[in-house]
Amino acid sequence: MFIAFIQSILLVNSCLIQNCEFCSPSFPDTCLNCNPGYTRDLELGCSPSQFHESSFYHIENCLELKDSSCTQCLEGYSLAFGRCEPICSSSDCLCFYPDTCLHIKRSLCDSSKCDTCDIINENCKVCKGGFGLNELKECVECIDPNCANCNTNFNICEKCTAGTILEGLNCTYCGTMNCGSCSESTKKCIYCAKGMNFDSQGYCCDSSCLTCSYNQQTCSSCKKNAFLDKICYDCIENCQFCINNSSCYECEEGYEQNYKGDCVEKGCKVKNCLNCLNQDKICLKCIEDYVLDHLNHCCFHDCKTCNADSPNCVTCYDGMYLDEIKCKSCSDHCLTCSNFGNCLSCANGYEIVSGYCNKIKTKESPFKLPAIFSVVSIFVIGSISVFVWLILDKKKIRIPVERVVVKPKHEHPRENNRGIEPIDAFEMVGLYNIQQINDSYSHAKNSKRNSARQNHPRNSQEKINPNSKTPIYVSVPQSEPVEFIPSNPPLNPTINNTDNLQQKSELPDISKPIYEHESISICNFESIVPVVHLDEVKSYNGIEVCFTCQERLDGNDEVRALPCGHPYHGKCIYNMMIYQNRKQCLSCLRSYF
Ligand SMILES: *[C@@H]1O[C@H](CO)[C@@H](O)[C@H](O)[C@H]1NC(C)=O
Ligand SMILES: *[C@@H]1O[C@H](CO)[C@@H](O)[C@H](O)[C@H]1NC(C)=O
Ligand SMILES: *[C@@H]1O[C@H](CO)[C@@H](O)[C@H](O)[C@H]1NC(C)=O
Repeated sequence: MFIAFIQSILLVNSCLIQNCEFCSPSFPDTCLNCNPGYTRDLELGCSPSQFHESSFYHIENCLELKDSSCTQCLEGYSLAFGRCEPICSSSDCLCFYPDTCLHIKRSLCDSSKCDTCDIINENCKVCKGGFGLNELKECVECIDPNCANCNTNFNICEKCTAGTILEGLNCTYCGTMNCGSCSESTKKCIYCAKGMNFDSQGYCCDSSCLTCSYNQQTCSSCKKNAFLDKICYDCIENCQFCINNSSCYECEEGYEQNYKGDCVEKGCKVKNCLNCLNQDKICLKCIEDYVLDHLNHCCFHDCKTCNADSPNCVTCYDGMYLDEIKCKSCSDHCLTCSNFGNCLSCANGYEIVSGYCNKIKTKESPFKLPAIFSVVSIFVIGSISVFVWLILDKKKIRIPVERVVVKPKHEHPRENNRGIEPIDAFEMVGLYNIQQINDSYSHAKNSKRNSARQNHPRNSQEKINPNSKTPIYVSVPQSEPVEFIPSNPPLNPTINNTDNLQQKSELPDISKPIYEHESISICNFESIVPVVHLDEVKSYNGIEVCFTCQERLDGNDEVRALPCGHPYHGKCIYNMMIYQNRKQCLSCLRSYF
């Protein structure tokens, strides 16, 4: 129905009759209502009003007009807001505006309700299941909710739903509600609907019930170990009678309530045990919050073992230590410990340093393994993807090796024949935020749009939709050409210290020229090679080792950094620069003469 409605609207909108306000949804060349001042005309559709010369305003479907306002409407129309609106019931009326409705001849073949349609008369011949024809030849729901088929007359049921049976004109349950299937001959229920079972009286009840009654969806009594709350719910374990599922009124025989209200087996020697074997020291199931260990005792969580008479941990799993009665986790990467700060063994790659596990450092490389690893893997992944790309796209083996400068819009983009598509100005929305787009909109609207049209006629027509409510015009700044560097610049797989360090943004730019005062001497050593502070991981610019002595910068000795940003022990760099007169950074090889 909704789709039919939308289609009608589309038809109305596609009305091509001049001066017509609404066309017929079924006959688009028939006007139903003309614009003010026009009247319907068989040939022209809507023609200027002829009668009432004096009145400039003609009111459609008006019978009597007085002083340019309607006093009485034609039959079938009623006066509303000075106009004659069709009187219609909601079933044969189509509303366009909240208060404007039109009589229409609707198709009665709603495909959701109608099975076979008479296309010529637009009537439904046979309705779908559960629907039947009414006096207007529309398909409406069968009057009996238990009717499965009433398709020629919505009042007369031909077939009832499963579990009901036709008695006279009505579908009635065969002996019990919730029946799944009735016997035609005995008119008795053969089996119950899904999730339902016969009770002792032959009624179909919820499967949790002991009994229910004919016309009730709920249970009337429950089995043992369950309580009634519309349907039946199980009591807690080993409970015989209860009224809710959080406590027990009477435990089953051989069980008694413990301090928490659980029904635990009488005489069981294991504490916190729910069920045990022959009242022995072997527990089968613990009460909530306790776990069974391999000795069949009920312990606190995280214990490896405990005793039968107490949940307190006796032993713990690896990676945990016994803290009085519970097991607690050791510190990170520690496999065994005697307490949190006293690790006894560490995981692979870790060593014990004052009770904790620290990563084992390799001295020869001051750079972190992951950095090298990631550079290598980026290179490998890059090569693989280029390789795959080449295989998949053999026709386009054009690897852009030169730098391509995309000119702003004033140059004709079709002249660019390098095999690389230029960036279209209108695709660069991502470079601008919405505010900028809005700001540039008013300017762009007049100037840029025109110039874009002239220079780039085909594309601009495609990209600019002048009818859209929020047009987006984006212009590439004219002053600065956008540099577009082809992706996948060749990666250098050989890692050298300088390359690696230059990736760190904190480093001074070593490409800057060397200034005079950077020639280091005994006079300016203190100021040009200043004392620096290490960060939390005892590194400076990510470097943890002095380049001269290869010892760690442990924070105990003064650390100084050269203007290139590479750190040294204060005494090492002083020795090298002043006493040995080797005025070059050992890391980046920059000279300080
Ligand atoms: C069918 O049901 C209606 C109400 O649903 C009742 O008024 C009517 O008497 C019933 N007819 C028969 C034949 O049972
Ligand atoms: C369950 O029933 C007991 C009485 O038997 C009552 O004290 C308790 O509050 C009930 N719990 C809930 C959640 O209704
Ligand atoms: C407890 O009983 C209530 C009804 O009283 C039910 O809605 C709920 O699902 C039951 N909870 C459990 C865990 O059985």
